[in-house]
Amino acid sequence: TERTFSILKPDATRRNLTGAVNAVIEAAGLRIVGQRRIRMSREQAEKFYEVHKERPFFGELVEFMTSGPVVVQVLEGENAVAKYREVMGATNPAQAAEGTIRKQFAESVGENTVHGSDSVDNAKAEIAQFFTDDQIAA
Ligand code: GTP
Ligand code: MG
Repeated sequence: TERTFSILKPDATRRNLTGAVNAVIEAAGLRIVGQRRIRMSREQAEKFYEVHKERPFFGELVEFMTSGPVVVQVLEGENAVAKYREVMGATNPAQAAEGTIRKQFAESVGENTVHGSDSVDNAKAEIAQFFTDDQIAA
């Protein structure tokens, strides 16, 4: 079994969609073993998206991620990293497959409802940035 890190982004909390998104996550067989609603600081967001800091949308991305509360999550299941990427759908909701979270809920490539780790190594680092072991219960 494997773990991945998930964020329900500010567009999801703003539209009261956290339960609807969680229903899709759980229906896919992923277990929410850690979950907390937080307001991300600018420092946290900049660190989290550090790999994108040279991209033209970096400023906009940090602005957005700090614009409202987010829900940070640890998801567990078989092939959790790849499975969640599949359930999320493409980064751009216009290209996301039918039934995916981004197809159903996302409004734009910037405000795309969810984050999910893109590798097992990144999942470990991202989980460690937001959770201590005692905040996760499998
Ligand atoms: P994450 O799970 O959030 O990391 O999405 P991803 O892995 O599908 O996409 P990627 O890591 O390439 O980009 C990270 C995030 O940056 C995306 O989810 C978007 O929120 C944002 N982003 C990517 N491309 C654009 C863009 O062209 N414009 C804007 N405003 N935001 C973008
Ligand atoms: Mg990414």
